[in-house]
Amino acid sequence: MNPQPQILILDAGGQYCHLIARKVRDLGVYAEVRASESAAAELCSAKGIIISGGPNSVYDAGSPTVDPAIFASRPAVLGICYGQQLMAHLLGGDVRKGEKGEFGLAALEVNDSSDPLFGGLGGRQQVWMSHRDLVAGVPEGFSIAGRTETCAVAAMANPARRLYSVQFHPEVVHTTRGKELLANFVFRVCGCEKDWDARHRAPLIEEEIRQCAGARNVFFFVSGGVDSTVAFALCTRALGENRVRGVYVDTGLMREGETDFVRRMPGISVECAEEQFLTALAGVTDPEQKRHFIGEEFVRVQERVIESRRLLDEHWILGQGTIYPDTIESGGTAKAALIKTHHNRVAGIQKLIEAGRIVEPLKSFYKDEVREIGRELGLPAELLDRHPFPGPGLAIRCLCSAFDAEVRQTPEGWVIPVHSVGVQGDSRSYAPVLAIRELDHTRATELINQLSGVNRVIALVKSQAALTAMQVRACSLTQERLARLRAADATVRRLSHEAGFDHQVWQFPVVLIPLGTAPAPDSIVLRPIHSVDGMTAQSVTMEPPLLEKMTAELLAQPGIAAVFYDLTHKPPATIEWE
Ligand code: XMP
Repeated sequence: MNPQPQILILDAGGQYCHLIARKVRDLGVYAEVRASESAAAELCSAKGIIISGGPNSVYDAGSPTVDPAIFASRPAVLGICYGQQLMAHLLGGDVRKGEKGEFGLAALEVNDSSDPLFGGLGGRQQVWMSHRDLVAGVPEGFSIAGRTETCAVAAMANPARRLYSVQFHPEVVHTTRGKELLANFVFRVCGCEKDWDARHRAPLIEEEIRQCAGARNVFFFVSGGVDSTVAFALCTRALGENRVRGVYVDTGLMREGETDFVRRMPGISVECAEEQFLTALAGVTDPEQKRHFIGEEFVRVQERVIESRRLLDEHWILGQGTIYPDTIESGGTAKAALIKTHHNRVAGIQKLIEAGRIVEPLKSFYKDEVREIGRELGLPAELLDRHPFPGPGLAIRCLCSAFDAEVRQTPEGWVIPVHSVGVQGDSRSYAPVLAIRELDHTRATELINQLSGVNRVIALVKSQAALTAMQVRACSLTQERLARLRAADATVRRLSHEAGFDHQVWQFPVVLIPLGTAPAPDSIVLRPIHSVDGMTAQSVTMEPPLLEKMTAELLAQPGIAAVFYDLTHKPPATIEWE
């Protein structure tokens, strides 16, 4: 059992809501996330409440709100960004649209560092801002605790009622003293005590697994990723190797060495289905259809495995590597929910879940905590530090085309007629890609904002022929093209690892696009990004010597005509190309 949360984070729709909870846990205090509208009575057992940021305006109809009774209840409250605006709005202050937004770094001046929230944090300091609306007048009983050049109320406080708020984001690393501010809130204002260290939880989790399983055995569909592997290892320790089975489906869409890597893990068997997947995908060019067919084949393979190994009888329950952010429905996670549900579409699995025959040992942990637990269990760093890799595998990084098409030169660059996905508003859109000559992120952002119908800008690093002499040609997923992408991906991973670049990025997709010449029909796009949780991402710059070496090796591989570098952030692009 986890401790009772001392701090509750109310999710007002911000992408940073989970980051706040993680940062509080990093301070050694157990925190959980709750829906913003939760009734004050359900929150009053906590010592503190933090209202997260969010993309809305407090005046818009349907914007997230909180039960105003929390401001008069026992827990102290800290509002962050939208949380500050909501606190001001609900307590009679004045919230307005700012004349200009404030996005990025700002210098905060703290007014009174004797206040418990700002204790020891006097003077000027760097904070990270992301807002347009601002508090123009503080509610009665509040004083202004800090300001920036653009934002007169960067922090406000009512110490008598233990209500505090900040317009900036203390949870992000760019706010240099953000951790101290959160610690002040958690320990000095709320009086929390340390009660959390994920590393020491393994024995407790194992006991929970034993209780949940009883005399039954556990089976997993493992992916080779961190979560399912750590969950699997915990079950094996709790129940013994003979009572836990893991099945890994080899779709033929995996990276080089992946299946062998998984095969070496004890207790895991490999179900080979390469031919089945490639047959289903033959001739398919539409990205959404590719995903759909892959999902369908997964269902078929899983049904076959469950049937042939009799995993539905009363001796078995299902194990899953669900982690905390997967369990919470919030604004931006619609796709995550979709991603995670694909293997729950198997009717037999659905029945097990409905009957409660499921064990999810990691469902209250964050990814970093799962890694800590994995380290505690002695799992290799090679596994724990892996970048996320999508379920449909290389298939969604191997672009296809239904037709032959020409590259078009425009004043801004070359328009490459492949269809690549981006996010416009909240929906996914497919559009061609613009290639430019310069590896210049600022220029790429300008072009994206200026041009319609393009949601990605890439730089041409080097090519075997002039771009106008290349064309996009009709093709689908073939073994040959997958092998080409697999080899390129292996090269990029090897060189990134040797240079330590893999530790500087959150994920590094390598994408194959059907652009080239007759002897070299495909090109490679490098997509190194930094991200916190995959919801937003920044394209990362690579040191020129590494890029040169990578490009030279890639162009020396058969079938590769050019190497590009994706300069686009998410939004408006996505991390993956399909
Ligand atoms: P996007 O491309 O939406 O990706 O910016 C965000 C994160 O999700 C991963 N991703 C997937 N993972 N099945 C998965 O298991 C999928 O279909 C899928 N599509 C995207 C992506 O790798 C990134 O980490």
